[in-house]
Amino acid sequence: MDVYGIIGNPVEHSLSPPLHQAAFDERGIDAKFVTFEADEDRIEEAFRGAEALGIDGLTVTLPFKHDAYDFVDPEESVERVGAVNTIDFTDDGPVGYNTDMTGTLRAFEHHDVGLDGADAVVVGAGGAARALAFGFEEAGADVSIVNRTESKAHDLAAEVPGASGHGLDALTDLMAGADVVANATSVGLESDESVAPADAWHDDCVAFDAVYKPLETRFLSDAAAAGAQTIDGAWMLLFQGVDAFEIWTGVDAPVDVMNEALRSHL
Ligand code: ATR
Repeated sequence: MDVYGIIGNPVEHSLSPPLHQAAFDERGIDAKFVTFEADEDRIEEAFRGAEALGIDGLTVTLPFKHDAYDFVDPEESVERVGAVNTIDFTDDGPVGYNTDMTGTLRAFEHHDVGLDGADAVVVGAGGAARALAFGFEEAGADVSIVNRTESKAHDLAAEVPGASGHGLDALTDLMAGADVVANATSVGLESDESVAPADAWHDDCVAFDAVYKPLETRFLSDAAAAGAQTIDGAWMLLFQGVDAFEIWTGVDAPVDVMNEALRSHL
C-alpha cells in the first residue's frame, strides 16, 4: 500500500484526507492518506523521516511551506514563488511543487475564465497572495497587488514581473478597470466582512475568494449582487489537490468525485 499525507501544524481539521482518499478509492489505487502534525522545531527531521520511511507524497501546509523549499528540488515555478505545498518523493529525491499556484489557474480554466491579458487585482500580500500573484502573472495577466500594509504590496510587486503595488485606498479605482479581483486576505474568514467596498463591484469582472469558510463570503455575495461571476475558495482547495494527485500518481484525477468529497466536508 502507498502512503501519502499532509504535514502541518495544526492539521487536525484538514480537508485533504477526504479529498485525496476519495480520489485513490475512485481510481482503485491502494493508498492511504494520513495527517502528520509535525513538531515545529523538528520539521527538517520530519521531512527526512518521511523520505526514509518511503512515504510517497506529501501535501505541505502552514507553517511549513517555506521550510519545505529547502528540502526539495524545486520545480521551475516553485523557484520563483519560494514556497512548496506538494512534495513528490521520486527515485531521484524529493521534488517540490506549488499546486496552490497551478491549481488556482486550473480553477479559473474550469470556470472558463481567461487570464491572458486580464487586469487582475490581488488583495493581500501574504502566502496566499504570493501564489495568486505569481500564478496570474504566469498566465499572462497584468497584476496589481493591494494591501493594508502598503509596503508589503510594493515588496511583493517587486518580485512579480510587471506587477504594481498599492495601498487599500487604491482598491476602488483599480476594481473599476479590473477583469479579476481576488481576495487573498483573511478578511471574511468566519466573519461577515469584505475587504472590498460593495459599491466598487461591476458585472464585467470575476471575483475569486481564497477564503472558504464560509463558502459564500461577503466579498463574493457583494460581487454576485453586482452581477459579477464568482469562484469560491473551495475551487482553489480542490484543484491544488487535483494537481497534487496527478503529480503523485500520473493518473487523471476524478475531479467531480473529489469536488463532492470536499464539499460534503465543508
Ligand atoms: P496567508 O499566508 O494565509 O496569506 P498572512 O500572511 O497572515 O496569511 O496574510 C494575511 C493578509 O491579510 C495580509 O495581506 C494582511 O494585511 P497586512 O499585511 O496589512 O497585515 C491581510 N489582512 C488581515 N486582516 C486584514 C484587515 N482587517 N484588513 C485588510 N487586510 C487584512
